[in-house]
Amino acid sequence: MEERRETGAESRAEAEGSQAPAPEAAIQDRLASDFSPLRWSDGAIEILDQTLLPREEKWLRCTEPQQVAEAIRRLSVRGAPAIGVAAAYGLVVAVAQGGAEAFAPAYDLLLATRPTAVNLRWALEQGQQIHDAGPEELETALLAWAQELHRRDAEINRAIGEHSVRLFAPGDRVLTHCNAGALATAGYGTAVGVIRSAWTAGALAAVWVDETRPLLQGARLTAWELQKLEIPFRIVTDNSVGALMSRGHVDKVVVGADRIAANGDVANKIGTYTVAVMAQRHGVPFYVAAPRSTIDPRTATGAEIPIEERDALEVTEVFGTRVAPLEAPALNIAFDVTPAELVAGIITEVGVLEPPYEESIAAALSRP
Ligand code: MRU
Repeated sequence: MEERRETGAESRAEAEGSQAPAPEAAIQDRLASDFSPLRWSDGAIEILDQTLLPREEKWLRCTEPQQVAEAIRRLSVRGAPAIGVAAAYGLVVAVAQGGAEAFAPAYDLLLATRPTAVNLRWALEQGQQIHDAGPEELETALLAWAQELHRRDAEINRAIGEHSVRLFAPGDRVLTHCNAGALATAGYGTAVGVIRSAWTAGALAAVWVDETRPLLQGARLTAWELQKLEIPFRIVTDNSVGALMSRGHVDKVVVGADRIAANGDVANKIGTYTVAVMAQRHGVPFYVAAPRSTIDPRTATGAEIPIEERDALEVTEVFGTRVAPLEAPALNIAFDVTPAELVAGIITEVGVLEPPYEESIAAALSRP
């Protein structure tokens, strides 16, 4: 195996790069403590519109399930756990608006928004159970459940972070792909939560942030979060990963997941598989951080995970500006599957799962 770690100041400086100025304290406090991209306010679910970040911080007020569904579809709220929590509130506003009869159509509408993140189905099925139990006050029961789901997800992410600390050594430089931060969850983040915990424990030198084409969740969102947290980072193009690893500038990879099959295969943002193959080639441990709600025991292997394909315009245009010739065809695969054999560990709220994943996943899911 080739030598990966350079402990000299030069390599660390390359990863740290020149940082943007420190963010204002108020925003940093918000992100560092209980920042969430979702908030329940006066009968509405408010969603921080991530399509506008980092340029603008605008909250969308949703009082109808159609508005929540549209926010999920257009990625105003995105990231598997955040989608699940948003959908839960989508059921609440549906029943608040249209009574119990509005539940089933809202369920179908929300479920159809995005196919890959299993947290969506996971949350909706819990809402269905509450509905089927026939509580006297369905709206009140759904709201209490959605708020508990919201609170619990942030708590789970902190536990994921705590379990991950032992995986890091002082001076580690970590690469992450897409955004699996507070923005992608109810708070704190999964992969970014791991990075936060490692940083707090003093075991991290810097973070490489893949820009994540085509919608730049890394360059826009992960960078936004890390900057507010004052964690040193540098953005790189997705296709830099081979060069970075071959130069020995990456010690660990940590990414999130949209769905983990029963055998440990992992669906995550397109480009994750490429990172995992490169990591194996260069002997860099590749970790996945995810709550157990992202593990789908009903999906045996990655081959069965439904993979979302999105509008080709997201590839041929860059935020509304055409970069490809007019009418040039494009394929926009939103996720890929990393085979379990490339995954060094799955960091969950009940501990770090190791191969063989069929066994460790089944054991983790059987725990309370
Ligand atoms: O298309 P997106 O932005 O919803 O994709 C998000 C990801 O792939 C994340 O890595 C994943 O959902 C985990 S978020 C904690």
